[in-house]
Amino acid sequence: MKITVIGTGYLGAVHAAGMAELGHDVLGVDADPAKIAALAAGRAPFYEPGLPELLERGVESGRLRFSTSLAEAAAFGDVHFVCVGTPQVPGSDRADLQFVDTVVTELSRHLERPSLIVGKSTVPVGTARRLTGLAAAAARPGLAPDMAWNPEFLREGFAVADTLSPDRLVFGVAGVDAEQTLREVYRLALDRGTPAFVTDLETAELVKVAANSFLATKISFINSMAEVCEAVGADVRLLADAIGQDARIGRRFLDAGVGFGGGCLGKDIRAFRARGVELGVGDALEFLAGVDATNDRRREKVVQLAREHLGGNLAGRRVTVLGASFKPDSDDVRDSPALYVARALWDHGALVTVHDPAALENARLAAPHLGYAADVEAALRAADLVVLLTEWRDYRELDPLLLAPLVSSRVVIDGRGALDADRWNAAGWTVHALGRPVAPAWDVTPIITSAVADVQSSQEEAVA
Ligand code: UDX
Repeated sequence: MKITVIGTGYLGAVHAAGMAELGHDVLGVDADPAKIAALAAGRAPFYEPGLPELLERGVESGRLRFSTSLAEAAAFGDVHFVCVGTPQVPGSDRADLQFVDTVVTELSRHLERPSLIVGKSTVPVGTARRLTGLAAAAARPGLAPDMAWNPEFLREGFAVADTLSPDRLVFGVAGVDAEQTLREVYRLALDRGTPAFVTDLETAELVKVAANSFLATKISFINSMAEVCEAVGADVRLLADAIGQDARIGRRFLDAGVGFGGGCLGKDIRAFRARGVELGVGDALEFLAGVDATNDRRREKVVQLAREHLGGNLAGRRVTVLGASFKPDSDDVRDSPALYVARALWDHGALVTVHDPAALENARLAAPHLGYAADVEAALRAADLVVLLTEWRDYRELDPLLLAPLVSSRVVIDGRGALDADRWNAAGWTVHALGRPVAPAWDVTPIITSAVADVQSSQEEAVA
């Protein structure tokens, strides 16, 4: 099929490459010429495992092309996926729909044959129906496009797999033609048994925000439990393991820590609440304010712990922050808890050095005033405190024994519960994970003393 994907950010670039991989002829469109140039050369403009290979294959096969022109998109495609951003309006909780509105209007103006526009962006419920009117008003007589909503559930870091083998498909449609077209687009996935849910437009829009609200609620739930655990010296990890055994609850998304961030969960729950108020059902979604507030408190808790570990004053103290992206396997720093905490520590006067395996460049753009180090050892040198805020595998695999001599104080705040506390304690580190009792360093003096004695006696033997 001839497909366009408009908006080539984290969602659209992967969707475009995925559609080409599934055998469609795809034109990716974005207003940013630099992004389009990179993609056209087969380069991913952001970090996403597996995407460079997918892009390369698509571009080389000739099935994947890129352009900055919506007119070209209208001339090329029969199905147009809208993947542009819906950021939070500054100073408000609402979603900014200007990009979605502009794309749908402009594209519709240029359409020359019957077409289907498929929204993928996360939007307030009711948007698809409003866009149907906008598109009809902009299109030439008789060429009003059909409209469908097909929300995306991909997770950054797993976006390629989530796109090629989704766990479910949701087709929000206003008629049977759109459903047939979407079934054709996703034929391979459907043949493999992926469940498809065919709904009205509004339900499809709601599925997305409801899913993200549930995920955010689950994370804030366990983080609220972490707060209670901290008050009584209990262990939230064990609590999560025990309640997670109940199949109705499930263990996934019960990892307590510094909370959620990224381009979706936070902004989506805020926009959903704002939409609920507009619809007169604000009370039904009021709990999302609590979800958001819990998430904010976890970030502040890390700052408070850092202050406590450094004797009440952060001014002039060296703090190494491990992690800048909002989660591992991503270079995305949007609403990143890690970067939020790094900034807050700096605001309190700390000398902050940030390390991240992939997000350093984006972090530097977002917070140029912080210190950055490209390798972990350099980042840790002479640190008074280490704060781990993104659970990259690189950090889990660090050798605490090798790092011990680098820092000036062996204390780590584990904001993601990522470290093996026993191993770090045995290497002389105090580990303070959120929601868990402080794991004190073992006294390594005897080990060091005996190691020194061994060396001395072997030297004496050698002399004798
Ligand atoms: C999310 C949804 O999972 C996805 O379905 C939707 O399409 C977009 O939003 P993503 O933003 O890529 O995906 O990240 P996700 O893996 O959901 O993690 C979100 C945040 O929650 C991260 O900051 C992560 O560190 C945090 N998190 C996740 C926790 O703090 N604890 C957990 O147990 C799980």
